[in-house]
Amino acid sequence: MLTAIRGATSVAADTPEEIRGAVRELLEAICHKNRLREDDVVCILFSNTSDIRSLYPAKAAREAGFARAALFSAAEPEIDGALPLCIRLMVLTEGDGRPVHVYLRAAASLRRDRVHFSVALDGPSGSGKSTAAKQLAKELDILYLDTGAMYRACALKALRAGLGEFTAENVAPLLKELDLRVVYESGAQRTVLDGEDVSEAIRRPEISMAASRISALACVREKMVEMQRAIAAEQSCVLDGRDIGTHVLPDADCKFFITASVDVRAKRRCDELRAKGFAVDFDTVRREIEERDRGDATRAVSPLRQAEDAEYIDTSDLTAAQVVALLKRKIQEKV
Ligand code: DC
Repeated sequence: MLTAIRGATSVAADTPEEIRGAVRELLEAICHKNRLREDDVVCILFSNTSDIRSLYPAKAAREAGFARAALFSAAEPEIDGALPLCIRLMVLTEGDGRPVHVYLRAAASLRRDRVHFSVALDGPSGSGKSTAAKQLAKELDILYLDTGAMYRACALKALRAGLGEFTAENVAPLLKELDLRVVYESGAQRTVLDGEDVSEAIRRPEISMAASRISALACVREKMVEMQRAIAAEQSCVLDGRDIGTHVLPDADCKFFITASVDVRAKRRCDELRAKGFAVDFDTVRREIEERDRGDATRAVSPLRQAEDAEYIDTSDLTAAQVVALLKRKIQEKV
């Protein structure tokens, strides 16, 4: 079985150095995103627009270290309105994995739908990450996955089963029969537990603490992370949570760690809960936030932590719209 991976890039000028650089960058990105080694590549077929004359892209691939693959280059006919100085390729590999096609530089505009990228937004509760992630996904026209909702659904299941303490022994049997699905209605995430839409039920304040407690169990995290990775592998997405950049998607294209002062976060959480009709008191919410922070950041398995390559953003003095604009600009600079 062969898998075909498509890709394209462009050069700023028709020079051998430019072509070498662009071909190497494209092949490296294809190998990285598809988890390929050079030996896995059976053959690479290139085509280039006719304004590229100084070096065959196939020769640049050979120079980039593709010693064994069969290589081929062809010039494309001149077509009015075509993207100039463009190199296209098809990489054939052994295996039947799901291909991740890669379009770089100006060629990214050719297939916006095929440019697969992921954004990891981590941070403590009330940092504004969910609000930002939701809006960001809408503006970038990609999927938003609220991973906290999945832990909340696990907590709801355990509470409904009458569990007070959560231990690996009493939660593991529930996970075996867990029927948890994340579905999208008009672009909004709905969380479905055992066939019931629990999207509102999991927002109740008592579920927040329970979610934090149950998320400390390794068996729960393993199951949730597997689901999260499967969803993220399918399409471009923004994931928000506590361990996205450090554990769920360590290769995410963009990583951010979003936070704000405890007072600001408590106020935001109060406003949000009051808007939903819950009578909450600021000091209690503030204390619970601190308690959750402590639990989430000190648990043994995948604690809340900034990934080394994540950008730190303090949203204390920013409006939601400003956070989204800032993130969007940074993402567009990168992908
Ligand atoms: O983001 P949230 O408040 O909905 O998350 C609820 C709890 O779930 C939070 O206290 C910690 C946990 N969580 C986690 O451990 N890892 C994630 N990726 C997301 C949430």
